[in-house]
Amino acid sequence: MAVQYAPDWFPGAGFKRTARQMAAQLHQTTEQPYQFVKQQMRENKAKISFLSQAIQNIKGDSDIDMERIHKWSASSMYLGGADTTVSSLMTFFLAITLFPDVQKKAQEELDRVIGNRLPVSADREKLPYIEALVSETHRWHPVAPMALPHASTKDDIINGYRIPKGSLLLPNNWLVLLYCQSRAPR
Ligand code: HEM
Repeated sequence: MAVQYAPDWFPGAGFKRTARQMAAQLHQTTEQPYQFVKQQMRENKAKISFLSQAIQNIKGDSDIDMERIHKWSASSMYLGGADTTVSSLMTFFLAITLFPDVQKKAQEELDRVIGNRLPVSADREKLPYIEALVSETHRWHPVAPMALPHASTKDDIINGYRIPKGSLLLPNNWLVLLYCQSRAPR
């Protein structure tokens, strides 16, 4: 018998309770902000946001599925972007504190290329040292070293390895980052 069909008290099946708690938490994290924005809109107090604009565009009952899509899109963006960016920034601050000589070089590049203004995305290609720092931050302590689980939709062969349809795949981000760095122009 697969353990997922066993009752909660069965030895080794405790994960089912944990999964239920997590599912409830995820549901609340998604539902609560959505209801909050709706409430704010009813009271004409809502700030312009992804959700407030999405809700405004919903028309009639036929858009009931859109409500679900907007709700879960907003929560994906929040959950996907919150911890990841904070963790990466913490890694960066730790690294830059441990290596003050690197901080000096990065500052020198910023002063020389950017000067007395805020940087914009278009500056990235002119900042190779800063770019390398960003890559190294992701490599040193990747936020999701095994990314997210995926499943193959068809039989496949990669580098001689057979991947049957439906296999669970856990990518090894660390290796991909190492591979990219070994091929990066010096
Ligand atoms: C340092 C910052 C970030 C890191 C390291 C990171 C990392 C990742 C990784 C590893 C995945 C899984 C990819 C896969 O295996 O399919 C992922 C997916 C995702 N990320 Fe991020 N992420 C970051 C920032 C963000 C931000 C800022 C947002 C939103 C504003 C975001 C939204 C998402 C979403 C929605 C997905 C799921 C995409 C899908 O369903 O295919 N992430 N991210």
